[in-house]
Amino acid sequence: MCGIVGYVGRRDAVPLLVDGLKRLEYRGYDSAGIAVMEKGRLEIRKCVGRLSALEEKLARQPVAGAPGIGHTRWATHGEPSEINSHPHTDSTGRIAVVHNGIIENFESLRHDLEKKGHPFRSETDTEVVPHLIEQELKDGARDLPEAIRRALAKARGAYALGIVSLDDPDTIYAARLGSPLIVGVGDDGQFIASDVPAILNQTRKVIYLDDGELAILKAGGVRVMKLDGTEVKPDIREVKLQAEAAERAGFETFMRKEIHEQPRVLRSLLDKHTKDAAAVALQDVGFDDAQWKAVRRIMIISCGTAYYAGSYGRLIIEALTGLPVEIELGSEFRYRDAKLSPDMLVVSVSQSGETADTLASIRKARRAGCKALAICNTPGSSLARESDVVFHTEAGPEIGVASTKAYTAQLMAFALLAIHLGRLRGELTAEQERELVRDLHAVPDAIHYVLARGEEIRAIAQKHGDGPSALYLGRKFNYPTALEGALKNKEISYQHAEGYAAGEMKHGPIALINEYLPVVCLCTKTRDEVYEKMISNMKEVEARHGRIIAVASNGDESVLKLAEDIIFVPQVRDEFSPMVNVVALQLLAYFAAQARGTDIDKPRNLAKSVTVE
Ligand code: M6R
Repeated sequence: MCGIVGYVGRRDAVPLLVDGLKRLEYRGYDSAGIAVMEKGRLEIRKCVGRLSALEEKLARQPVAGAPGIGHTRWATHGEPSEINSHPHTDSTGRIAVVHNGIIENFESLRHDLEKKGHPFRSETDTEVVPHLIEQELKDGARDLPEAIRRALAKARGAYALGIVSLDDPDTIYAARLGSPLIVGVGDDGQFIASDVPAILNQTRKVIYLDDGELAILKAGGVRVMKLDGTEVKPDIREVKLQAEAAERAGFETFMRKEIHEQPRVLRSLLDKHTKDAAAVALQDVGFDDAQWKAVRRIMIISCGTAYYAGSYGRLIIEALTGLPVEIELGSEFRYRDAKLSPDMLVVSVSQSGETADTLASIRKARRAGCKALAICNTPGSSLARESDVVFHTEAGPEIGVASTKAYTAQLMAFALLAIHLGRLRGELTAEQERELVRDLHAVPDAIHYVLARGEEIRAIAQKHGDGPSALYLGRKFNYPTALEGALKNKEISYQHAEGYAAGEMKHGPIALINEYLPVVCLCTKTRDEVYEKMISNMKEVEARHGRIIAVASNGDESVLKLAEDIIFVPQVRDEFSPMVNVVALQLLAYFAAQARGTDIDKPRNLAKSVTVE
């Protein structure tokens, strides 16, 4: 999704803008641009493609000065082109604007402005903003802040905005409604950014703007006000993340680094939330025992990979607590007439905490009186701030567009929550809790083992990754793993992949099986009949000459006869096997993508956080 960076201060803004935009590249974009105040002129440089193209342009047509605002655009209204890329200006070229989000009523606003003589150049919704501000100044606004506030009162939709103007040449204005935007408070200047990693190497002091707030940044300080003009005391917070956490640390891609970080991430969640490796003791999650016990129903809401984590959450909570659990896609739930009640806990799952559909769903559930728990990886995000309580997954910044460590951290969060709730509700004895916690502690080492098998998995991926399609099958706890494995594969290798509940194979997908189709089967050993059922499904695939890639428990001889290739993984308790098995599938997708030469960290058309519908 689009990225915003801005700087006002004594330094030259240009290198800071380019560096900040580079740190936001992972969000996905197709064009980029900057606007910089240079000796009383507002200079703009933009171009289509990667930031390297913008850097080349800046080398040919240099610019220097401050303040400046920069943007990476992910096209929504109008194709990726120089004209459509941001910053956009008013008709006089005195006001420049960068924008994330969507101005939903831009067509009617544009129509009115055109009637008043404003010439429009682009197809974007954003371009109405500088023209609206210009018009408000013409219509008697006393100053720029008032013109911006009046203009924004007319805009419907979502925005994070950075604005500079020749009328106020030492200032950046920043406003937010529904799209994330932060202010960075530095020693020698102030920053704006759509995401913390963009400015983490410059400052760790940030103000998370709230919806409906306007920040006025000057070299010496920041003022924040509401759109009605009321002053707000800025709440400056210290970000704990280290800048290096958002760097590649010697790995060829962020995704590879993030896959390898999983044992550490899960180990530290376990250390934080368990006591003596024998009991769950949730830290900083916010509910007391009485509040947990008051929960009668759970509804989990999320999108994409986080939805598959939620699907696992449903299974583990049902298994350990006896509570009824539903799972919903944010994009569907927000438009459904679902029956909601105050005894219901609505659990959102999100890496970014900014996914528009998840956020809208939580707002809807809270309006209906439900309590909201966010399982979230981004402190200070909208979801974290708007929920009653938060389970922070603390996986660190996830830069690769394809989610990996955030996913396994979400699974771990659900496992810990389920044990905690199960114990409180009397569904688990102390002894059962002790066994579960002990078995959870085996997971990080089991993941280490899978990571050490990287070269074997690479060989399998190279052999099977070049066909047009692949099928992923799993059951019960590993049904979501099959869905997630297929999603990882399509996202980064662009090989079409379907995830299916193995029991559904006979209801349709079996027609696809022939001697060319790779079928990834999750058949690690289980204590119940699911394992035997998976073996039967594999026999059905084998009988039709499908090419089975099995993820199986170490030493499982019966799989040897059925599968063409096997990824052996350590056997962990059934309930926790998805955290281990999915790592094998992440690597399988990763190496298939590498063999196909795709842009792994920034797959085509995808954005890291989907902040618009
Ligand atoms: O930030 P979120 O976890 O709310 O994002 C949800 C999805 O957009 C995200 O998981 C997406 O599916 C990823 N590309 C998966 O790799």
